[in-house]
Amino acid sequence: MQVLCNLCVSPGVLQLECRDRYFMIAVDLAATGDVPRFEAVDGTGTYAITEDYAAKCGYSISILSLLGLVELRASYFSCHTEKVLKKRVDAYYALNKTCSSPLPWSPREVTCEVNYMEVSVRSELPCQSGSSDDSSTLGPLYSPSTEVWQVTFQNPYQQLPPMNLSQARQEGYIFDHVHDRIVFRTPYGQPESYHTEVTGVPVEVVHATVFSRQSWVVVMVDLIAACSMDEGSYDSGYMIWGTPEALYPSLGTTQISFGLNGNLVEQAAVVQKGFIMERYNSTVQIGIPYDAEGGYRKSFVSDGLSEFYIFNLYLKQTSVDERHEETVLWFHRTLVTPLLSSPLFTEDQTDVDNGTFSIHLGKVPRDVELTSVQLNGQEFAVPFSDSIAYTLTEVRHSNKSHSYTLKVPLHDPIVIQEVSLFKNTNAAMLHKLDINYTLIVKPGDEPYYHTFSVTARMAVSPPSFDVVCTESGIDFKLAYRSFDYLWDFTIGSDRLTPVLAANHGYTMSNDSQSLLLSVPLFTHGYKYKDIGLKGFLGTFTILVRDRETADILTSTTKTCLFNATEFIMCSTNGWMTVVVDLSAVLPSGEMPTRFHLLNNFCVPKAVDGTRVLFSFPLHSCGSTVKVNIYRFNFGLNPPTPHRKTVQCTYPLISLHRLFSIHKFESDKEGVGSIIPFVETTKGMFACLRTWV
Ligand SMILES: *[C@@H]1O[C@H](CO)[C@@H](O)[C@H](O)[C@H]1NC(C)=O
Ligand SMILES: *[C@@H]1O[C@H](CO)[C@@H](O)[C@H](O)[C@H]1NC(C)=O
Ligand SMILES: *[C@@H]1O[C@H](CO)[C@@H](O)[C@H](O)[C@H]1NC(C)=O
Ligand SMILES: *[C@@H]1O[C@H](CO)[C@@H](O)[C@H](O)[C@H]1NC(C)=O
Ligand SMILES: *[C@@H]1O[C@H](CO)[C@@H](O)[C@H](O)[C@H]1NC(C)=O
Ligand SMILES: *[C@@H]1O[C@H](CO)[C@@H](O)[C@H](O)[C@H]1NC(C)=O
Ligand SMILES: *[C@@H]1O[C@H](CO)[C@@H](O)[C@H](O)[C@H]1NC(C)=O
Ligand SMILES: *[C@@H]1O[C@H](CO)[C@@H](O)[C@H](O)[C@H]1NC(C)=O
Repeated sequence: MQVLCNLCVSPGVLQLECRDRYFMIAVDLAATGDVPRFEAVDGTGTYAITEDYAAKCGYSISILSLLGLVELRASYFSCHTEKVLKKRVDAYYALNKTCSSPLPWSPREVTCEVNYMEVSVRSELPCQSGSSDDSSTLGPLYSPSTEVWQVTFQNPYQQLPPMNLSQARQEGYIFDHVHDRIVFRTPYGQPESYHTEVTGVPVEVVHATVFSRQSWVVVMVDLIAACSMDEGSYDSGYMIWGTPEALYPSLGTTQISFGLNGNLVEQAAVVQKGFIMERYNSTVQIGIPYDAEGGYRKSFVSDGLSEFYIFNLYLKQTSVDERHEETVLWFHRTLVTPLLSSPLFTEDQTDVDNGTFSIHLGKVPRDVELTSVQLNGQEFAVPFSDSIAYTLTEVRHSNKSHSYTLKVPLHDPIVIQEVSLFKNTNAAMLHKLDINYTLIVKPGDEPYYHTFSVTARMAVSPPSFDVVCTESGIDFKLAYRSFDYLWDFTIGSDRLTPVLAANHGYTMSNDSQSLLLSVPLFTHGYKYKDIGLKGFLGTFTILVRDRETADILTSTTKTCLFNATEFIMCSTNGWMTVVVDLSAVLPSGEMPTRFHLLNNFCVPKAVDGTRVLFSFPLHSCGSTVKVNIYRFNFGLNPPTPHRKTVQCTYPLISLHRLFSIHKFESDKEGVGSIIPFVETTKGMFACLRTWV
């Protein structure tokens, strides 16, 4: 059989194909803008292919908006197939297509289209020449004589009177004779059709008997259109659809082949594609995996992110009756899954050591796009501008889902930082980020918000200071980290405060950036060691304590070598240690070893060139004591006009033991001073000589 489909179509036509039993025309929706209107044109006029007309005349129009396509299927028996089918758009493009039906026709063929049923049977009738333009009649069977064709519809539920073909046509039924086949087509849901169940499957049946009396012969043709009306169901990842084995009389089981979108899958590929076919209770059940290739998927926002799948099932069922006559059923069924939840996948991939939040948002369906991200309430459009410190990388996967990785530095001001303190464990800094993703389902602009909160816990170490030795002391510096307010700094047990610093003669500056503390030598807090003519080691310690528990967490200790030419120390236990340079008073050649203090037995502990080191208890070696209301002064104060004085001064209040238990023990070190030689060096010389 050869049929010609003569079409006028727009540039949007993507495909024009001959299929087993129909022409297929796919039109690009984008190219035509609106859904195109189709019209059939032949010598008798122009016929708009409306919904009703399509069902009656053998056209099916599917708007596959997910693919941006409109598909028109025209049965090879459609009303105007051999004439002209024209699609009315602004411009017309003529396209002719001749299809040689690729498959031989079986004695009976039934098409269960989405909008109509069509049955054709091989005509055993003598084919009369000449056709009629009156399409309400059964084509060549018609003769203008008295042999008027009648049709009765058989229905188990009611008795229906016969009608002539023109009445039947008005009712929406078409009877035709094409080549050697008698064709009957009916939309679904006609008053003469009936619904029943066959082996548990809903079925719609129209049973027409056309008959005509030609002189003494009555010609009668039985035309039964029966289609499974199963709408399909969804179960455990499969769309399930069934049809009875025995819609038409069948010897044994029927042969089934099926596929999606008008393609029948090779038997071997069925399993490989994950399709299932099972037979039980005289029913054939088809299972299509929800993610089968050829299915269409659409995201939907409804109480979360959902999706549904649409399958255009195409199925061929062949049965052979006891007379070995074949019946072939062709099914076109649109199956839609219910809304399935389609949860996104969020994973915190933050590696604290990298100093960056890294959050993965995966399983984002292909038709869902990220349009903006709120970080702790602040909105950033996607793609991110280059001027912000955050990055968003998108990866498109072969399974057509895509994923996004968001990176935000932990120390960015947008991140909320909180300290968490646990007893007996180290303090931790919590970095918190609340993310609110705005995703849009395309097409359309329905937003879906996906929120995710991440917390990165960073163990925080107590700070340590940068320290430098200076000539006259030690300088401590701490560049504040955001959480350094957690700690107390103490000198011994005394908390470092501006008041304490002032009392002890430290120099302190403290702003939001840093803490600077300069500790001059001989101030409170120093420890001295290895005191000699080469100098001495001075050590100063700042303790870092937990503010709550006062536990010492860490400390910064610095030891510096101080090597001033002269120095004096007044210890808490009442010893004076002093290094003085005698170069100015030493007669040349004189050894300082011969020098002593007022008391002749108090000789230097060490001598180095012109410098001498004395170390002695304060109340010995001829020292004098002066007490005033605040201070207790020890001094070597030779009674000459040219005198050299070394003295230690202690606050009285720190010497309370002296008065209670007669023990010299000061709470604080004394302040020492070496009062320089007065300018008459000669006199000074004389003075020192008196010590010898
Ligand atoms: C298509 O058919 C029309 C009329 O039937 C004819 O005029 C035209 O030449 C044909 N075009 C092609 C490409 O065959
Ligand atoms: C068909 O039947 C109707 C109503 O009975 C009648 O009016 C009409 O003339 C008939 N048509 C033919 C072609 O017999
Ligand atoms: C087959 O049909 C019988 C009776 O109708 C029913 O009990 C049985 O559950 C059916 N089997 C399946 C697999 O549905
Ligand atoms: C962290 O840094 C390491 C080394 O630079 C890198 O290999 C790793 O991928 C990073 N991790 C993340 C989550 O960025
Ligand atoms: C798609 O592939 C990616 C990468 O292999 C995987 O992570 C993701 O889970 C897959 N998506 C779905 C919806 O299965
Ligand atoms: C996410 O952002 C949207 C839009 O601003 C808002 O309506 C929604 O409440 C936010 N969700 C949360 C959990 O903050
Ligand atoms: C430094 O200043 C901050 C903020 O005013 C204050 O909290 C902190 O106690 C100060 N530190 C010292 C050691 O005074
Ligand atoms: C102190 O030590 C420094 C370096 O160790 C040296 O340069 C300096 O001359 C010394 N000063 C005295 C007075 O010894």
